[in-house]
Amino acid sequence: MEGNIIPARPGEHNLADYGAARADFDFARVAEEFSWFESGRVNIVYEAVDRQVAELGRGDQAALYFEDGRRQEEYTFKQLQEQSARFAAVLQQYGLARGDRLGIFMPRSPELYISFLGAARRGVVVVPLFEAFMEEALRDRLGDSGAAAVVTTPELLPRIPVGDLPALKHIFVAGEDIPPGALDWRAVTAAAAPDTAMEWVDREHPLFILYASGADGKARGLVHVHEIMTGLLITARWVHDLRPGDVYWCTADPGWITGIAYGFLAPWLLGIPVVVRGGRFDAADWCATLAKYRVSVWYSAPTAFRMLMAGGDELLARYDLSRLRHILSVGEPLTEEVLNWSMQKLGQPVYDTWWMSETGMNMICNYRCLPVKPGSIGRPFPGITAVIVDDQGREMPAGKIGNLAIKDGWPSRFRSVWNDPERYARYFRHRPWFISGDAAYRDEDGYFYFQGRVDGVINTSGERVGPFEVEQKLAEHPAVARAGVAGKPDRLRGEIVKAFVVLAPGYAWSDELAAELRNFVKTGLAAHAAPREFEVKAEIPLTGDGRVDRRVLREWVLGLS
Ligand code: PRX
Repeated sequence: MEGNIIPARPGEHNLADYGAARADFDFARVAEEFSWFESGRVNIVYEAVDRQVAELGRGDQAALYFEDGRRQEEYTFKQLQEQSARFAAVLQQYGLARGDRLGIFMPRSPELYISFLGAARRGVVVVPLFEAFMEEALRDRLGDSGAAAVVTTPELLPRIPVGDLPALKHIFVAGEDIPPGALDWRAVTAAAAPDTAMEWVDREHPLFILYASGADGKARGLVHVHEIMTGLLITARWVHDLRPGDVYWCTADPGWITGIAYGFLAPWLLGIPVVVRGGRFDAADWCATLAKYRVSVWYSAPTAFRMLMAGGDELLARYDLSRLRHILSVGEPLTEEVLNWSMQKLGQPVYDTWWMSETGMNMICNYRCLPVKPGSIGRPFPGITAVIVDDQGREMPAGKIGNLAIKDGWPSRFRSVWNDPERYARYFRHRPWFISGDAAYRDEDGYFYFQGRVDGVINTSGERVGPFEVEQKLAEHPAVARAGVAGKPDRLRGEIVKAFVVLAPGYAWSDELAAELRNFVKTGLAAHAAPREFEVKAEIPLTGDGRVDRRVLREWVLGLS
């Protein structure tokens, strides 16, 4: 059942008339906004940082407010330019050239952002690695991308299986105790002369390779290019409603697409300062951060909103959140409960946005200028064509659940899967449609409704987990003969990782074994991938060609068979 419709909020905002924009919008026109439209010289770092300094008079304005419980630092656009130019010079000094890959494996820190910018300045391709990854996940991603260097911290360095990575030549460590053999990020960067010369690239030049989990096989390296900036700039304006004077906080980690695209690139293209909150924090810290930095636009996820809800009225009452004028959500279904809470307690709706690592930009969204229908992810961004297709790629009418698909050609889309053209082609098996892997339907007014994944990919607290990787890891344990993994619906986390296991001969099930298996995945792969529930089975169902039959697993978790 659809709940009460929340009316549009007319007045001054960036996308004032959705209908008109949809009728005549063309992404080609966004090009006029960039300096390369006239100069012909392209680099996203120029647009996001150097241009803010050189052409737009924002050099001394804050770009980054960083805080993690231990450090509290502020960087202007000019400082980011200088620091990233130094790191770019370091990369050159150590022989990294245009097209080479640099892994960035560290918790949120100023060094992470500076390294990203420094690499991109040089045309070096960044491989972002989420800080929770363990040895196996790192071996796969650094190995597949052939990274020539990595930036990390003393704490995370031991997880990198250096001996298994022949292409890896240099390790930059940012922190206090630099182990032998590693380079001291801070020392080499401080010693380098800021080389502000920009490497001009093609709009199609790779910017980063982001590994994302799919239903089958290892994580795939989605290749994003400098042209991603076109979709980022226009959605920052029309979806996030960013404008001068705003302070923006996107709470996602820069190891994931949201933390890269909207965590810093999109807002900086418009010269807007961002807040980055690192370390562990609780519901009170969320509110304290919003209040302290006078955050005006906040992009977060249902999991975070639920934490605030749990904190109760008393929590909200302690903080001045009056500057908060626009709130957005992504990554998992935005429930009506959260929407009602925000209407009542924050006096405004949370605007849901739907997109993926592959799409590179917000695709189907709710906007201030349109009514919000609770339960709907909203309507396609101007210039984006979204449809529902059946398994043969034929368009389906309103009201029918099918595959959510997007017409190819939008500017921020991934351009390939690193080392795997076949997998890339599978996304486009029904051209011109990009098949998202999500199930959805559309109503008569053109609003879309997310209905879950169709392919077995698990979404736990907004983090994407590939069942295959977890199954492989479990099967490495001597007690496990076979494993099948699926997402089980969960009120708090959206889904949890559930594992069905067939025990190896001679092993008996026990709570200790469950804890051991959980820990085995946690320490080998990543904490968020570790199963929270196990069930012993006599066998794991397979499809005709020998793959795990995900439809049957789905029925098992739902208790249907
Ligand atoms: O299933 C959809 C879910 O997150 C998937 C994409 O995950 P990832 O590539 O990690 O990117 C996350 C954020 C961009 C989608 O296939 N998803 C994304 N947005 C929503 C969502 N599910 C429900 N509602 C959303 N708004």
